[in-house]
Amino acid sequence: MLGIDLEGKRAFVAGVADDQGYGWAITKALAAAGASVCVGTWPPALNIFTRSLERGKLDLSLPGDGDLEIEKIYPLDAVYDALEDVPDEVRENKRYKDLDDFTISGVARALEEDFGSPCVDILVHSLANGPEVQNPLLETSRSGYLGAVSASAYSLVSMVQHFGPLLDPEGAILSLTYLAGERVIPGYGGGMSSAKAALESDTRTLAFEAGRKWGVRVNTISAGPLASRAARAIGEINGMVDYYERNAALPGSNTAEEVGHAAAFLASPLASGITGTTLYVDKGFHAMGMGAEAVLKRETGE
Ligand SMILES: NC(=O)c1ccc[n+]([C@@H]2O[C@H](COP(=O)([O-])OP(=O)(O)OC[C@H]3O[C@@H](n4cnc5c(N)ncnc54)[C@H](O)[C@@H]3O)[C@@H](O)[C@H]2O)c1
Repeated sequence: MLGIDLEGKRAFVAGVADDQGYGWAITKALAAAGASVCVGTWPPALNIFTRSLERGKLDLSLPGDGDLEIEKIYPLDAVYDALEDVPDEVRENKRYKDLDDFTISGVARALEEDFGSPCVDILVHSLANGPEVQNPLLETSRSGYLGAVSASAYSLVSMVQHFGPLLDPEGAILSLTYLAGERVIPGYGGGMSSAKAALESDTRTLAFEAGRKWGVRVNTISAGPLASRAARAIGEINGMVDYYERNAALPGSNTAEEVGHAAAFLASPLASGITGTTLYVDKGFHAMGMGAEAVLKRETGE
């Protein structure tokens, strides 16, 4: 039987701080396929995440038998490449001051110290941040725009630079993108659409550069809307979920599990020929040229 088998592989999933988002679903799917999983958590969310885990407040159940066990949690702030980039007010902030090196290069070093090299088979970038996401692009400041691109797109480039040498030669890198990088999604502002366009373009370029340098694959999943913590900050997320349900090629709402399963496939040897790709996991919404709602209503008489 052909199945997804990640036994003996280690994943690092950046962007996990609760059990509501895509990072969590991907962590669970990779673990369910047999991988051990370390996560990278944004320092401002770290305390609440570790406390929720300790108190059993998160859904750890894996399909079939057993519960998710996270191998190790690394504090990670993906807007910093090295400690010398971190402004004093951040270093002295109560959420950061007691942490070891939480920058991208620092976490890569910590992983190597903990597990040797190569020590990562699967690298997942499941994080985004746009300080002005609620502003239309026309009302976005330079710093808001650059902040969105720094946190949500350059962070992938930097992670590939710093984690690349730690990756197994058959390793897989994945990120999460959204249709707003290629079509207009009103309300997805603050330069976040620009950041997703950059992320998708960088996926192709990194697939070539990291593919030839280390042999690894780089893909991105364009996921449908999900009411995660980050998405709730956009403001319109419930309306978007509802709109997709009424207008996508397939009925029903997107689930985080579907994205987790696609991630497990892309990370597995079954996808060894796939790189530089944007894979849509959105119930086929991206394929529609017109909203389906009016036609569906006419047909069903509802
Ligand atoms: N939710 C959706 O509708 C949707 C749709 C398509 C794509 N995505 C993408 O999926 C990915 C995961 O988002 P999600 O919606 O599951 O929400 P989420 O809240 O589960 O994940 C976002 C994570 O990013 C972390 N983060 C923010 N700034 C960071 C930083 N500087 N350094 C490190 N971590 C940081 C947050 O702490 C959080 O854990 C993002 O790339 C997002 O754009 C989401």
